[in-house]
Amino acid sequence: MSEIAYVNGNYAPIAEARVSILDRGFLFADGVYEVAAVIGGRLIDNGAHLARLERSLRELRIDSPLPMARIADVEAEIVARNGMDEGLVYLQITRGAAADRDFGFPADVAPSLVAFAQKKNITGSPAAETGVKVLTVPDLRWARRDIKSTALLAQVLAKQAAVEGGCQEAWMVDQDGFVTEGSSSTAFILTETNVLITRPNSTAILPGCTRNAVQLIAKRQGLDVEERRFSVAEACAAKEAFLTSASNLVLPVVSIDGRRIGDGAPGDTSRLLRRLYIEWATNAAGAG
Ligand code: PDD
Repeated sequence: MSEIAYVNGNYAPIAEARVSILDRGFLFADGVYEVAAVIGGRLIDNGAHLARLERSLRELRIDSPLPMARIADVEAEIVARNGMDEGLVYLQITRGAAADRDFGFPADVAPSLVAFAQKKNITGSPAAETGVKVLTVPDLRWARRDIKSTALLAQVLAKQAAVEGGCQEAWMVDQDGFVTEGSSSTAFILTETNVLITRPNSTAILPGCTRNAVQLIAKRQGLDVEERRFSVAEACAAKEAFLTSASNLVLPVVSIDGRRIGDGAPGDTSRLLRRLYIEWATNAAGAG
């Protein structure tokens, strides 16, 4: 964690940054968040992240404490004050702290905005070379997974199950046996006939910003991209698999539930898409 956080208009050292115990984010997970990557001191694809933030707020009828352009300024200030070259900026908006713990929306309460930075080597991650192992788990989440809510208990349990199973990510699976997405990433597979498959956006998954950019990059490379559901069995039989997220960009998946994907090493297409995504992110198109 880096030093300086933002809380409701003030910048302060993390150890001194505080929100009320009555904050509805703390009591009800009544809030939304965003995570954007920083590479070379610049926020990556941040327009898409802020558009998703605005949508999440609208869906939950939480007012934004600042216009999106001002939120982008806060994020840039967090990057600057922490002297961050590479890592993540975390941003959270909750419905605020009311005088009492009532479930319904409080009247006349200002929403809270918190932001902080996390330094992380994302472009040079060793996991990009080794690939990651995935464990599948039932998707225990609510029915509005398209909203980037701070209610992440199902994802916490999924990730912990993965870690305890010697894996780095969990892929959550719906009642029909189809993969929804990773605990904090989007799931992709490549078929033997070189078709890239990812689940269509719906209320069943978060519309990933990296997912969107990677699809465009793949299409530009002449790859066929198909949005449809895929089962765990299909994923295990895939030629390649990978995950995408702001925090990991594109990471090859080398095993699912202990079954090797392809020859058990990061696939060529996964590696290519990671390289092209980093190129896109670090040129003018992806930054900002
Ligand atoms: N998570 N699906 C889920 C459930 C996620 O939590 C995330 C991102 C994604 C990928 O979205 P994007 O490409 O826009 O980052 C998909 C962030 C990184 C997190 O919670 O830390």
